[in-house]
Order: sequence, then C-alpha cells, then structure tokens
Amino acid sequence: MTASNRIVLSSDHAAIALRQTIAKHLEARGFSVTDLGPSSPESTHYPTHGEAAARHVAAGESDLGIVLCGTGQGIMMAANKVKGIRCGVCCDTFSAQMIRAHNNANMLSIGARVVGEGVALEIVDAFVDAEFEGGRHGTRVDMITAIEG
Ligand code: RB5
Repeated sequence: MTASNRIVLSSDHAAIALRQTIAKHLEARGFSVTDLGPSSPESTHYPTHGEAAARHVAAGESDLGIVLCGTGQGIMMAANKVKGIRCGVCCDTFSAQMIRAHNNANMLSIGARVVGEGVALEIVDAFVDAEFEGGRHGTRVDMITAIEG
C-alpha cells in the first residue's frame, strides 16, 4: 500500500453493487474507505455524486477518490469540474496505473456497465498501488493545473 490510504467512493444508481464490492475489497486491503453512497436503487443523478466525492478529495478529507456510473464517463466529467481534481475513466489496468504514474490522477472512474467485477477490482488495485513519477510528468501536471486559473 502507498501513503494514499484514505479513499472516498461514490456512484449513481447504475453502479451501487460494484461500488459496494470495491468498498469491501479496499477495506479488506486495509484502506480507510468513506462510502458516500447512495445505497438506494432509485434513479439518481451522477453529477451530484461525482461532485460530492471530488469535493471530499479536493478538501483533503480523502487521498484518492473512486467514482462509478454506468459508463464512468458522466461522473468523471462532473468530478473534473472541481478545482484540483484529475479524474480518468479506466477500462484496463495499464491506464489505471498510468493515470497515477504520469498524470497524478487523484480520482478514478469506472463504468459498471462496461467492465465486470473481476476487471474492476484489478483496475482499482492498479490505481491505488501506483505512484506518481514526478519529473517531466510533474511539469505537465502543473500545466493542467494552470489551465484551472
Ligand atoms: C444512467 O442511466 C447513466 O446515464 C449513467 O450511469 C452514466 O452512464 C452516465 O454517464
């Protein structure tokens, strides 16, 4: 495990079961997990949940965030509107590792209707186990931050 041991989770209605599976997986690995829900299967709105997890990370209440919706795309877009958030959608473990190693992503998004549970857990592990490499990648991440103004 890296020093990034506090992880916040949120999803919309399309990803409740997978989010809860990921929460249990991370807790079993020793991470401190904050699950912002929802737990009800009623239809809800992914921007609300993406923003909630992103603000949690941006405020320093968690080190990393993992958000989920049907595709992972909408909730990722919402999370990235919060200043200081770098969130990427991943369907494979290589991308999940690289968004941390090169992009210093602080949030991961997964599409529950895109990847199965086994792949999703491998993506989560690749993301939380990777570390930012810094150096020239730091220069580029700083350039992303500068766009925020
Ligand atoms: C909800 O039906 C669906 O639109 C949402 O989960 C997500 O896929 C949006 O990006």
